Amino acid sequence: VKKLLVDVDCGVDDAQAIMMALAAPDVRVLGITCVHGNTSVENVCRNTLRVLKVCHSLEIPVFRGASRSILGHSLNLGHFHGKDGLGDVPDPKAPGLELVQNEGAVEAMIRIASEHVGEVSLVATAPLTNLALAVRLDPTFPQKLKGLYIMGGNTDSRGNSTTCAEFNFAADPEAAYIVLNDFLCPIYMACWEFTSLNKLSWEFCDLWLAQDSEKARFMEKIFAYCRKVSCAERCHEEMGDGTGFVPCDSYAMAAAIDDSFMVECMQVAVTVELTGTYTRAPAGQHVAHHHHVLPAKRGQRQPQLAGRRAPHGRCQALQVPA
Ligand code: BDR
Ligand code: CA
Repeated sequence: VKKLLVDVDCGVDDAQAIMMALAAPDVRVLGITCVHGNTSVENVCRNTLRVLKVCHSLEIPVFRGASRSILGHSLNLGHFHGKDGLGDVPDPKAPGLELVQNEGAVEAMIRIASEHVGEVSLVATAPLTNLALAVRLDPTFPQKLKGLYIMGGNTDSRGNSTTCAEFNFAADPEAAYIVLNDFLCPIYMACWEFTSLNKLSWEFCDLWLAQDSEKARFMEKIFAYCRKVSCAERCHEEMGDGTGFVPCDSYAMAAAIDDSFMVECMQVAVTVELTGTYTRAPAGQHVAHHHHVLPAKRGQRQPQLAGRRAPHGRCQALQVPA
């Protein structure tokens, strides 16, 4: 059984990634930690509970994490995921925040990793604030993980959020820097370019969401807003070019669930630019050094970046089973 810990800023594609993990055979989600990002951390907790409810998995503990970046900023993608992060279609019967654990996300991450040393894959589909705080609280935390799967960063100089940065890294560049430099465990990254090259066509989405299941109906409801925005703006840089849905977070999740998904990987030294007028503007560009000349710290591993296109047919993994 694969043990996962998932760190989310539960927008639409995070929801999709969580549903994928819950539907996967031989996968146990030990907990979901929430962080600021697509919306406020309170909304993220609420959204995560909604997803768990629709998947009949409310027994999975949900933990509240950081409400802002390490330096106190807060970007949000309200115009893409909706103000509440899930397409602004509130459910009056949604579970209340009293179901969120009293233990904080960072403490929970450290505890869970210590209880299952070498067995837990951490999947981070959000700004990396919780992870950075965890390694500062317990520097041995990353070494207790089996691996870290990140959706974030960009391999060329065009981000999807700020001039040069991908949203999860732009929302907390200091945290991304800390994680990439101080997590001494295998790191796998699904960066923006890889995910945007592997979008789901709207025709595929129609078939996917037409399934007769509670999960498909939920997904269809929360999906409508971002689909409308993507199509209306057509060149919506944040989540693709408008010709389909980019299920960014699902790619990091898929890699954690199924090792064979990591195809066409490249192993490179990476870090994050924290200064610079244009590359910061206002937040950090992810720098991948393909010539292996970035200095590595003792014991530091070079992350594997997912390459170009997933092999044909891989998107099937993204179907929400009925
Ligand atoms: C990332 O930003 C968020 O909006 C998505 O959920 C994904 O994690 C893509 O840049
Ligand atoms: Ca996300």
